[in-house]
Amino acid sequence: MRDGRETLSSELFSQVDMHAIYGGVVPEIASRNHATVIGHLAETALKNAGIGRGDVDAVAVTYAPGLIGALLVGVNFAKGLAMALGVPLIPVHHIRGHIAANYIAYPELSPPFLCVIVSGGNSLIADVRGYTDIKIIGRSLDDAAGECFDKVARLLGLGYPGGPALEKLARNGDGTLYSLPRPSIEGRPYDMSFSGLKTAVVNIVHSAEQRGDELDKASLAASFTAAVSDILIPRVMMAAGELGRDKIAIAGGVAANSRIRADILKAAEDSKRALYIPPLYLCGDNAAMIGCQGYYEYLEGVRAGMDLNAYATMDADNLIQVAAC
Ligand code: KG4
Repeated sequence: MRDGRETLSSELFSQVDMHAIYGGVVPEIASRNHATVIGHLAETALKNAGIGRGDVDAVAVTYAPGLIGALLVGVNFAKGLAMALGVPLIPVHHIRGHIAANYIAYPELSPPFLCVIVSGGNSLIADVRGYTDIKIIGRSLDDAAGECFDKVARLLGLGYPGGPALEKLARNGDGTLYSLPRPSIEGRPYDMSFSGLKTAVVNIVHSAEQRGDELDKASLAASFTAAVSDILIPRVMMAAGELGRDKIAIAGGVAANSRIRADILKAAEDSKRALYIPPLYLCGDNAAMIGCQGYYEYLEGVRAGMDLNAYATMDADNLIQVAAC
């Protein structure tokens, strides 16, 4: 990345095919693949950016949250690289990276704004007050939205990853056919719950199997997507109103869903708020978003030492203090 916003190169080695046969990510396989490809990928990124190792001013790396084995490979590679090049090492929180994907897509976007992050492991509503001043105001109290997409997709016999397959199936369905819950949590207006929704889908599928009824899978997929959208979007709009935010952004893999994109676009238009939705290639995990957020953390003076560790869980607004070198 140059000056945070300009992507010189962003390399991706997708492991989706390798995990698809197991129906989900196998942590050890993921870590081992990271170890195999990371050196080559970093070299390719430099080559495609048209720069040499000496042109690198800082190294940014995701250190939390995520699968610990994979994170440790990245953290240790970044430490070695930063040490060899004699440049600062910048620790980046994965969710902060997802938010930053919007800065790459929209050069004019700057905080404050409200951001909804919906990925495989997280469903969060964040008040982005500054580039590094982020407050999580709402979250899923159980499953993440993406996790539900993957589980429902598996239940319907679709492959992994489930989100895109479920979206494709839902296109031919009626989203009002199946009645599914949209739970709220008393006293916690921005928090969400998706596990009851998932269980409701499980019950519909099992009852149909037991009774020998034909299941309208496309309509069940569409009804499920409508329920996720109905849980998510009113909370985002309510938060934007109460906090007085006139800009709304969306991030994370589930932000690729066309129904959710269309619904949030309509809600933003109706309330006359600007909406920022990154293109699909920036919605899923990518290196550019980490480099972008790393730039802003760097400007803020955030540095890690050679004792930087990786963490499976960590709040995006309550970061573990990392030692400065
Ligand atoms: O952000 P992401 O690439 O990875 C992390 O979890 O950090 O998000 C992956 C999640 C998966 O659960 C996947 O099924 C979901 O995003 N996803 C989708 C779609 N594309 C990916 N969910 C719904 N509709 C989609 N089109």
